[in-house]
Amino acid sequence: MHAFSSILLLGAVVVQYVLGRPEDARIRRESAILKRSVDSFIEKQTPFSWQRLLCNIGSTGCAASGAAPGVVVASPSKRDPDYWYTWTRDSALVFKGIIDAFVEKYDPALQTQIQNYVISQAKLQSVSNPSGGLSNGLGLGEAKYMVDLTQFTGAWGRPQRDGPPLRAIALMGYAKWLLDNGYTSTAQTVVWPVIKNDLSYSAQYWNQTGFDLWEEVQGSSFFTIVATHRALVEGAALARSLGTSCPACSSIAPQVLCFAQRFWNPNQNYVVSNINGGNGRNGRDANSILASIHNFDPSAGCESLTFQPCSDRALANHKAVVDSFRSIYTINNGIPSNGAVAVGRYSEDVYYNGNPWYLTTLAAAEQLYGALQTWTTQSSITITPLSLPFFQSLVPSATTGTYTPSSPQFTPLLNAVRTYADAFLAIVESRAHPNGSLPEQFDRNTGRPLAAPDLTWSYSAFLTAAARRAGRAPPTWGAASVLGTQLPAGGQCSGHAVAGTYTRATNTVFPPSQTPGTPGPQPTGIPEPEPQPCVDVLVTFEARVTTLWGESVRLVGNVPALGGWRPEAGVLLDAGGYTAGNPVWKAAVVLAAGERVEYKYVVVGADSKVRWEGGGNRGFTVEAGLGGCESTRGDSWQ
Ligand SMILES: *[C@@H]1O[C@H](CO)[C@@H](O)[C@H](O)[C@H]1NC(C)=O
Ligand SMILES: *[C@@H]1O[C@H](CO)[C@@H](O)[C@H](O)[C@H]1NC(C)=O
Repeated sequence: MHAFSSILLLGAVVVQYVLGRPEDARIRRESAILKRSVDSFIEKQTPFSWQRLLCNIGSTGCAASGAAPGVVVASPSKRDPDYWYTWTRDSALVFKGIIDAFVEKYDPALQTQIQNYVISQAKLQSVSNPSGGLSNGLGLGEAKYMVDLTQFTGAWGRPQRDGPPLRAIALMGYAKWLLDNGYTSTAQTVVWPVIKNDLSYSAQYWNQTGFDLWEEVQGSSFFTIVATHRALVEGAALARSLGTSCPACSSIAPQVLCFAQRFWNPNQNYVVSNINGGNGRNGRDANSILASIHNFDPSAGCESLTFQPCSDRALANHKAVVDSFRSIYTINNGIPSNGAVAVGRYSEDVYYNGNPWYLTTLAAAEQLYGALQTWTTQSSITITPLSLPFFQSLVPSATTGTYTPSSPQFTPLLNAVRTYADAFLAIVESRAHPNGSLPEQFDRNTGRPLAAPDLTWSYSAFLTAAARRAGRAPPTWGAASVLGTQLPAGGQCSGHAVAGTYTRATNTVFPPSQTPGTPGPQPTGIPEPEPQPCVDVLVTFEARVTTLWGESVRLVGNVPALGGWRPEAGVLLDAGGYTAGNPVWKAAVVLAAGERVEYKYVVVGADSKVRWEGGGNRGFTVEAGLGGCESTRGDSWQ
């Protein structure tokens, strides 16, 4: 085991990490010792983490007996605490890691797990639960289920809106592998229907509050918004590759990206992780570090709109979040202000008395390894005024500028960041059970492991951090396509949403022997792709309805997306463009091309009384307009 005392030492020496000083030889020697120690920790911990992670997946996992196939159990612990459930978020993050590893190296055993996961989630989507059902998507916002895929009916923080986009992201990783290996029809018929429901949810409910990833704060969570944006960008592109479309994805993604920028505190230079919610927290939260690592795209450089690990914003934020834990845990006492420390969720945490967590300490390392990868591949490192304090804490002589491998600063900067990142891993090593077992937390005073044992997410967090350290990047998700162009002009964000259509994914049989193969016919090199037939059409309804203060307008119709003629389940229209001269109420709804739709508008009074418009039902057959998979209907109250 790595001795904790050398972590303390490391902090002290990093201060003077500048080449040419008398201390230099000693510094290099000590960081070499740390590196070797972390190397050997990783060597032991990697197979163990894989083994324990797979133990927690049903139905064959050694610690998951009773769980359905493909179900990730959060922890085998059935009491104090009871984590014998499956969370949509945790499972998606765990399977994202599994799928990335599978894409790197084909493994039939992992493929079986992945297929079981897809099938289990197809079923789970249709399980009605206290958040709702599938018909209008509300049930997808449920956070956790029983391990046999039935609903959990107890009181809980509901809904949690990060589950659907994270699951879509994980499943899209496998759908892309299928495409790349010539199994397009499996991707289209088995995996896409599940992904599509989650994308519909993301486009429909992104602008409503929900509980954060720690299940405590009701509001808007940075982690959730960033995951939603990524899912929509990736979903729009995957839909095209599959010969279909996701008009809601492309329409909503820029709005979500726009909103994501709102979490930045420009005076103190960090992400306020929860907004739109009443809580007395300072906002520094590992939420934002997790957002950065799960948004990492090796092709996106150090771009800050999507909060890439090496972006100046993400580095300034890393320092702010890590620093917020320096003085609050006894075990961090005595570590110099620039050494790695144990990282928790947020400083006001009181769960189990508020402790550091393995997965958050690992995330702090993982962000830095991701940053190192990008700097190495692009052969440059840029220090801006925003990231300067981060760099200066590691290399006091650092100054703003761009450094390439030919400059004397380049290698020392990289080495200092790597040594700092390794020191977070060394903390995890020293605080794990001696056999490598990783529970959820370690004690803020004694450093002893505690809370849920063998937390699946802890093992997954270790494995992804170790992969980044080894220079293994996740596949790109298209973050580079976002650069500059997608933000609505003038930074004017809109909160519009698109009501989706949800369909139960019933095709849950994978053809046998889908071994690595050659891609099917690829789109030709024509710059403008052939227009695809629209499966879905984004229909914008614009209704002129003169209303009184306190009244609202809803669109109600025969199809589930329009509430099945139930006004309370209909689509609420938006009065953002309403003027006395032009009293427009608007809503966008995704409807299936070719579908026959009948509808009417209703006005809901301040007293909740519903007033239907007169005349017969309005009706039309859904068709795409000329410009793509979109069309508009203009109506006036009758
Ligand atoms: C590892 O050690 C912990 C603590 O002693 C113990 O609870 C756990 O069962 C051990 N795990 C394995 C796989 O040996
Ligand atoms: C909805 O989006 C608007 C525009 O970005 C934003 O001002 C508002 O805070 C958002 N609300 C929620 C709950 O996401």
